Amino acid sequence: MIGKDIQRAKSLLEKGQLVGIPTETVYGLAANAYDAKAVSEIFRVKNRPSFDPLIVHIGCWEQVADFVGEVPVSARKLAARFMPGPLTLLLPKTDRLPDIVTAGSPQVAVRMPNHELTLDLLNSLAFPLAAPSANPFGYISPTTAQHVADQLEALVPYILDGGPCTVGIESTILGFEYGVPTIYRKGGLALEMIEEEIGPVRVKPFSTSRPQAPGMLQSHYAPRIPLKIGRIRELLPDFDMNRTGLLVFRRRVSGVPEAHQVVLSKNGDFAEAARNLFAGMRHLDSLDLDIILAEPVPEMGLGRAINDRLKRAAAQEG
Ligand code: TXA
Ligand code: MG
Repeated sequence: MIGKDIQRAKSLLEKGQLVGIPTETVYGLAANAYDAKAVSEIFRVKNRPSFDPLIVHIGCWEQVADFVGEVPVSARKLAARFMPGPLTLLLPKTDRLPDIVTAGSPQVAVRMPNHELTLDLLNSLAFPLAAPSANPFGYISPTTAQHVADQLEALVPYILDGGPCTVGIESTILGFEYGVPTIYRKGGLALEMIEEEIGPVRVKPFSTSRPQAPGMLQSHYAPRIPLKIGRIRELLPDFDMNRTGLLVFRRRVSGVPEAHQVVLSKNGDFAEAARNLFAGMRHLDSLDLDIILAEPVPEMGLGRAINDRLKRAAAQEG
């Protein structure tokens, strides 16, 4: 069931049940982070492998003191500037948090979503919320309550509707590998913004958050129909134009039916393109097509995260 009732969401979560929650990035599938049994339900419902850890969502920064150890100075700076917002920090966990949340890692991923409804919910609860994106494992992340319902309605008692996500792409994950600020996943907070605050940061080569299993996690965010990235004009001759979907940055391409084309941002605005990306992929995936061709966007600002998601969507056969 979809609705806007925070009280209902609160009481379900307090009973150890799952609730779909809106955030500015993508919708999450939330449970009490201190309740190992409730958290194990998330893994079951998503069909998510147990080695893939979850992000813990907080309503105010002071809450980290409940389950996090020492916080590096640059993490504090980033939190002060960008939380709430599309940034997740990897920090040392304490025993207060069950191991299942972090898949046994001594580090916990922490984030404060910038969404009024969810901040109100979080601040009304006596515990933080563990939540991955609310999609079946490996599929495209949801950016509306209806996306969540389309796939998980039968498995989740309540989905809190906070409207379409305003950022539309998952949070940027930043950790401190050997003390060096390192981006584990490109996302809704641009690298440039982070560097403005704390200086140069390293970016993990494949931008997967678990280097131990890069191959497995590359095939994230994938539609069911194959997706190929490149210059549309060069790729098109290999396919039937009437059975090809296009995900283009600014302009439609002639020859392919307009109804099979998604333009991410007519004005070339990265934020708008990010907001439209997953809904566009879902839409094309719902049509009767052979293939989706996607054009990369310029590799700067949020464009980096958009290209990262396109590459992962294209890596599905791996
Ligand atoms: O924007 C977001 O981050 C959304 C919303 C719902 O908050 N959440 C999200 O969660 O994208 P999920 O589970 O789909 O992706 C979280 C990523 C996973 O790939 C996981 O491997 C990584 O974060 N992660 C979580 N905890 C980690 C840890 N302790 N160490 C390394 N990576 C971690
Ligand atoms: Mg996910």
